[in-house]
Amino acid sequence: MNNFELYNPTRLVFGEGQIAKLKDLVPKQARVIMVYGGGSIFKNGIYEQVKAALEGFTVTEFGGIEANPHYETLMKAVELIRSEKLDFILAVGGGSVIDGAKFISAAVHFEGDTKEILYKRMSIRENAVPFGSVLTIPATGSEMNSGSVVTIAATQEKLPFGGPALFPVFSICDPKVIISLPKRQLQNGVVDAFTHVMEQYLTYPADAYLQDRFSEGILQTLVEIGPKVVEQPDNYTLAANFMWSCTMALNGLIQKGVPTDWATHMIGHELTALYGIDHARTLAIIAPNLYKVLFSAKKEKLAQYGRRVWNIQGDDTETIAREAIRKTEEFLDIMGMDRKLANHTPDYAQTADIIVKRFEARGWVKLGENGIVTPDKVKEIVELSY
Ligand code: NZQ
Repeated sequence: MNNFELYNPTRLVFGEGQIAKLKDLVPKQARVIMVYGGGSIFKNGIYEQVKAALEGFTVTEFGGIEANPHYETLMKAVELIRSEKLDFILAVGGGSVIDGAKFISAAVHFEGDTKEILYKRMSIRENAVPFGSVLTIPATGSEMNSGSVVTIAATQEKLPFGGPALFPVFSICDPKVIISLPKRQLQNGVVDAFTHVMEQYLTYPADAYLQDRFSEGILQTLVEIGPKVVEQPDNYTLAANFMWSCTMALNGLIQKGVPTDWATHMIGHELTALYGIDHARTLAIIAPNLYKVLFSAKKEKLAQYGRRVWNIQGDDTETIAREAIRKTEEFLDIMGMDRKLANHTPDYAQTADIIVKRFEARGWVKLGENGIVTPDKVKEIVELSY
């Protein structure tokens, strides 16, 4: 097991009816900016719950943060905070709104060109505006981590950044919010969380027995509840287990002391930036092909995953590992993912070359655990996804 530090200051408030606790969680004298997305919160009662809990607070509202939040939109919120001297951000939404709040938080006091936060993939350690969140869609884990991904619309680039100053002060997770989610978003949430675990687990054996069991436990839970929660979002037991699995999949715990991959995400972000494909669906397109291309490096862990998560029997590592990839593909299909890039965009033919060029220009030539995802591998993975 590798050495590690665990730091996670987010107060997670979980359960039905917990949005009312906002009145105790938001600092009393705060001048609040409430940021939200395209308007779903007005149709499902979440806006009313938030406003009721914040009665007596000074609240300025800023809506219109799009899925895969745009730098251009977020900078308007930054200007508003600066001009109105607001000092607390409340994000009410999913990964996009919470990630957006993280960028806003980092940019308000940033001196210089705020695009540098993205281009230099800065680690924000201080001077961030405090923020909390009310989660409306389980998927990303952004409610309990310090990472964020922001799209520069003008150049079609989707770039990650983060830092220890960007943990939410609190996040409220009420599983009831999933009732209003369209099936597509429920499917996305399950697949996003599943892939988060795989990015932190499916590398090579690292003698981290507990982390492996945590990861396998989350994967097994998602396999068990994923297909059901999509059909029954009003089932509280399923909703609660779904929501907690998504948070646990990316709140930092399972990645401590182990190697991680993240190449599926980095390639996937390009597919969103280029073609607007939902984040989770890009992961489903890329992940199984990445496991195939990097089979020799990942086969031991693939076989462990096959045995423990899918209960595949046998003695031959390679056979079990290949069957584990097949089971993964089958699960992604059950979760409604279309894993063929050509079915998402007619412009797929040059995608591998475009992505390789972009990665090389950014110096991203050794992604994945031990830098094994080199440009030639990226090309192979993406071409296999056509
Ligand atoms: O914008 P509104 O109108 O609110 O609609 C949203 C949006 O259209 C809708 N929605 C959210 N809650 C709802 C609802 N509709 C009905 N009822 C509700 N309760 O769902 C749509 C998708 O929302 P979004 O926030 O984009 O989804 P998600 O949580 O999947 O976030 C995706 C973003 O997070 C980033 C992704 O790259 C993407 O930009 N990620 C962030 C990560 C992190 N910070 O750690 C890790 C992830 O892997 C991911 O990269």
